[in-house]
Amino acid sequence: MPDNGVILDNHLEEHHDHETIYFPSGFLWGASTSAYQVEGNNTNADWWYWEQTHQPPEKWSGQACDQYNRYEQDFDLAKQLGHNAHRLSIEWSRIEPKEGEFNQAEIDHYKKVLKSLKDRELTVMLTLWHFTLPKWVADKGGWESGQTPQFFERFVKRIVPEIGVFVDFWITLNEPGVYIYETYIERAWPHSKKSWIGQAKTFLNLTSAHKKAYKYLHSVYPVGKPVGIANNILSFESYHKHSVTEQVAVSLNDLFANHLFYFFTHGTHDFLGINYYFHVRFRSGSFIAERRDMMQTHDISDMGWEVYPEGIYQVLTDLADDIPIYITECGIASTNDDRRNRFLISYLQEVARAIKGGVNVRGFFYWSLLDNFEWHLGFEPRFGLVEVDYEVLAKEQELRKSTTSPYKTQSRKIRPSALVYKDIIQNNGIPHSLLRFIGHTVRAEEVLEKRSKETEKEMIQPEVLGKGQKEIPEETEKTA
Ligand code: FCB
Repeated sequence: MPDNGVILDNHLEEHHDHETIYFPSGFLWGASTSAYQVEGNNTNADWWYWEQTHQPPEKWSGQACDQYNRYEQDFDLAKQLGHNAHRLSIEWSRIEPKEGEFNQAEIDHYKKVLKSLKDRELTVMLTLWHFTLPKWVADKGGWESGQTPQFFERFVKRIVPEIGVFVDFWITLNEPGVYIYETYIERAWPHSKKSWIGQAKTFLNLTSAHKKAYKYLHSVYPVGKPVGIANNILSFESYHKHSVTEQVAVSLNDLFANHLFYFFTHGTHDFLGINYYFHVRFRSGSFIAERRDMMQTHDISDMGWEVYPEGIYQVLTDLADDIPIYITECGIASTNDDRRNRFLISYLQEVARAIKGGVNVRGFFYWSLLDNFEWHLGFEPRFGLVEVDYEVLAKEQELRKSTTSPYKTQSRKIRPSALVYKDIIQNNGIPHSLLRFIGHTVRAEEVLEKRSKETEKEMIQPEVLGKGQKEIPEETEKTA
């Protein structure tokens, strides 16, 4: 400080440092996708059949983002946006469309996909199972059947030697808890039914599948290619600090949703992969989480999911262990890109706070690289750093049928938030100037009003309903 005797300057410097908030060196920065949500035409998957019998046509996955054919262009985008890592999945139903019959052409396809990530010098985090099953596995009972962990193990043993050279991190399973919640509790996903026994069997079979894959992967790669799962972790809170029921509700939900899978698979995680989306509060007398009060005071996404940056700090500090943590998914569905900017910066600030407090976080994967197929909600939620214009995509596909010219990519448009993210990546930190994005909070009511109008419009007519479909689809919150 200049020696001019003005103490105020010193005071200002101390309290308004304009420093960048840095992340540890070697931090992985990227985005996540899953095969079924972006590839298109996964005709051998259980979801494909389920959609066509239980969902209105506009919610069928169809060609999705056609990434099966456009992966090179999409990975160019990731590279151009500064990413140094990418998380994606492979589709079991393509690789093993019939029981025990492996499709070498599809295996070769995935080798090309993964190699093209490596050619772009991206660290590859590969998910082996992200919600979809081959139809034949589902027909044999899916995850409720004790055979499925063995089927999964056979698939893993067949595919890993082929693609392992291109993979840096393995994720055996994506969000076992969300899968169970959506199938047995919310009953919005394939094979949905009410069955506590089915739920318990599914849980145990998923733990068994993970353990088998972990053991095998370590037998092939004893070191150097860490194995874990991507787990949906929620931040739970009570309304009243001194309410015993609320505290019990928080503890039980935290145990079941956030810790149980780790408890049953202890010793088989080289890192913790955390997907963070949800913050829920419990009110006295109810074990059902409430969201509304929070929504009136906070920013929320187009899906009604609360924006709660402190939550990521809470879950990170809660789970901090002696193994590294990667945030394997975190993102917001919004057509208002300013919200995505605020989201990114405020969440990353909290991640940085956790790191400063000693939590070993080593990477962040935004969900998602591009808008994609959001399961039973179809294409409406817009999570992408890159916007997908599905109408243009459909026209490009039509054109494709009549010409052999290379794929056009006008259907992809980089959103400004992708450039904000790039800025962060290039700095390996949050430059102070970016903090201005925080602060212009959009009132939740505004979104809620829009959502309720849209939900009215969306009500599907009973004649297009398939077996088991609820008459009026409800917007639901996913929790594990
Ligand atoms: C996660 C899923 C991912 C996507 C995001 C929005 O629970 O892993 O496939 O649907 O939510």
